[in-house]
Amino acid sequence: MVSHSTNPLIRNYRWADYKQCEHLVEKVWRFNTIFPNPALRRIASLGYTKGSLEGSNISQVVEHNGKVVGFLFGKNDRKKLFKYYLLFKMSMLWRLFWFPGDKSERNALLTALKTHVTNRSAIVEKGGSEILLFVVDPEFQGRGLGQLLWHNFRDQCMSSGVDAIYVSTNTSEATGFYGRMGFVHKGDFSSPLHEIAQWPGRPCMYEFKC
Ligand SMILES: CC(C)(COP(=O)(O)OP(=O)(O)OC[C@H]1O[C@@H](n2cnc3c(N)ncnc32)[C@H](O)[C@@H]1OP(=O)(O)O)[C@@H](O)C(=O)NCCC(=O)NCCS
Repeated sequence: MVSHSTNPLIRNYRWADYKQCEHLVEKVWRFNTIFPNPALRRIASLGYTKGSLEGSNISQVVEHNGKVVGFLFGKNDRKKLFKYYLLFKMSMLWRLFWFPGDKSERNALLTALKTHVTNRSAIVEKGGSEILLFVVDPEFQGRGLGQLLWHNFRDQCMSSGVDAIYVSTNTSEATGFYGRMGFVHKGDFSSPLHEIAQWPGRPCMYEFKC
């Protein structure tokens, strides 16, 4: 667990945190390497970070010395979603439409995303309570911050009567963490998104029964 000297603070996400969250995502998932084309990287980064944020209704960060060192964006299906999600979708459509240069990379990414969503829906239907995006800065991993964020999300879901919480992850990523937190493996699926990213392991779904 985190020692008191590190003084971590868990709090609700604020608009001013966005750039730091996006930076963490790009760092941990190596977006620079995966998407050398800056226009495509911008779209992927926005879709991944902002898309998850706008689809969530519980968004919390852990701050250390004024810096965001981890966050969890999640959806509680017993609570209403904010309407900003529609605005986000429209702005993404706009960006996609005006994508500069060769559109084949953009099209490949969109097709991969569509297949990913379809394949994972065969294991867990969309719409339930879910961890959408969850990351702790590598320099702060292994100090109990992930557990702190997860417990906070889990407790908020449970107090509103949620039955189960899902997460989509990768067998080479955080499955050990989720197993440790009491999740069970629901199934693997194939995803061209993971092929584009060249992540090792298989995409999979985990479930936590409340
Ligand atoms: C997964 C992640 C959020 C965990 O955060 P963390 O702060 O490092 O985890 P904690 O320190 O709170 O670990 C809590 C417990 O889980 C265990 N644990 C953490 N990561 C683990 C792993 N990959 N495999 C097995 N156990 C793990 C810890 O040993 C600890 O166990 P303990 O209670 O016996 O001491 C973090 O490793 C991360 O950001 N990874 C990269 C991004 C990612 O994979 N995100 C999830 C995508 S769905």
